[in-house]
Amino acid sequence: MIVAIDGPAGAGKSTVTRKLAERLGFMFLDTGAMYRAVTLVALENEIPLDDDRQLADIAKTIELHFEGDTVFIDGQDRSEEIRLPEVTRKIKSVADAVAVREHLVALQRRIASTGDFVCEGRDQGTVAFPQAECKIFLTASKRFRAIRRALQLKEVGKDVTVEEVISDINVRDYNDENRPVGRLMKADDAIEVNTDNKSVEDVVAELERIVQDRIASSSNAPA
Ligand code: C5P
Repeated sequence: MIVAIDGPAGAGKSTVTRKLAERLGFMFLDTGAMYRAVTLVALENEIPLDDDRQLADIAKTIELHFEGDTVFIDGQDRSEEIRLPEVTRKIKSVADAVAVREHLVALQRRIASTGDFVCEGRDQGTVAFPQAECKIFLTASKRFRAIRRALQLKEVGKDVTVEEVISDINVRDYNDENRPVGRLMKADDAIEVNTDNKSVEDVVAELERIVQDRIASSSNAPA
């Protein structure tokens, strides 16, 4: 079974989807990490970020491997580097490149065909897994998303104001919603869940109910 979870940055997706996968006994696929990995390798090799062909070559040739939260690129643990602010700032060109997306979506489908997965990203319910049995679109108000992000940054020793984070979020939303391919969009059959004012545990419990209802209704469906 595939549970596709999409939504904007800061809606609490990554924490919640990891916990949901754990609760369900499913594996977890962090598709953002794939775009981050290609961006990191491009930056390290000084590949021009407007060269879609070379970016696609990276997507084709790097060996990506996930073990829990650890992301291996060509056998090396690069989990920390892929989250560096420089990577986040430069990811747009990589995520906009059609050929990169084709490779990464194909890889996502190959990985997810090996078992039950919770797949998290921007285009999971629309492009990667339009046939997913369960689709969820996580949202939150801008202010909540910014507060969440500011708290995460504080934990790693970076003090930023909520207003500064909101302006970053505006840029990321614009990029995610306006890219030519794989843009952030709610699938028609996705269930929207707003995470404002809810604890991680509450959201996980709500999502687990949605998935269990879906499992129950598909096992009751006439053959
Ligand atoms: O989820 P995360 O913040 O790690 O994603 C990083 C960036 O990768 C997003 O801002 C988005 O531009 C891109 N992305 C994407 N499609 C996905 C997952 C992430 O374009 N399925």
